Amino acid sequence: MKKVFAVLTLVLCFGVTAAFAVDGAGLYKTRCAKCHRDGSESSNAGGGVVLKGQSADEIEMKLNGYVDGSYGGKKKALMSRMVAKLSAEEIKALAAHIGSL
Ligand code: HEC
Repeated sequence: MKKVFAVLTLVLCFGVTAAFAVDGAGLYKTRCAKCHRDGSESSNAGGGVVLKGQSADEIEMKLNGYVDGSYGGKKKALMSRMVAKLSAEEIKALAAHIGSL
């Protein structure tokens, strides 16, 4: 019986951690890579921007700028749609991932 509780506790701990930690790399792959590839280039739809080499702070500032409309170029409406559904935690995780490219 003790073993069962130990296993249950482990499963619960992992489950809770997984639910709170945002996977920036995974998010990037599913939501951003289509346009921004591996960060070293972008497709036409991605506006040709290069994300690689920019710091996490810079990226976070730009993403938040797209959220509140204070940042962006000719295609900012498109990026605003991309970030509109992201939480602050997701933006931080994405920025940290891009900053590490
Ligand atoms: C459908 C294509 C598309 C997708 C998907 C997309 N983007 Fe973009 N992204 C663009 C375009 C186009 C621009 C240039 C917008 C402008 O004119 O400001 C851009 C610009 C950016 C910039 C600003 C770069 C700079 O230096 O000015 C960042 C940062 C960025 N995208 C991050 C992301 C992240 C993170 C995601 C995933 C959540 C994402 N993008 C998904 C098309 C896309």
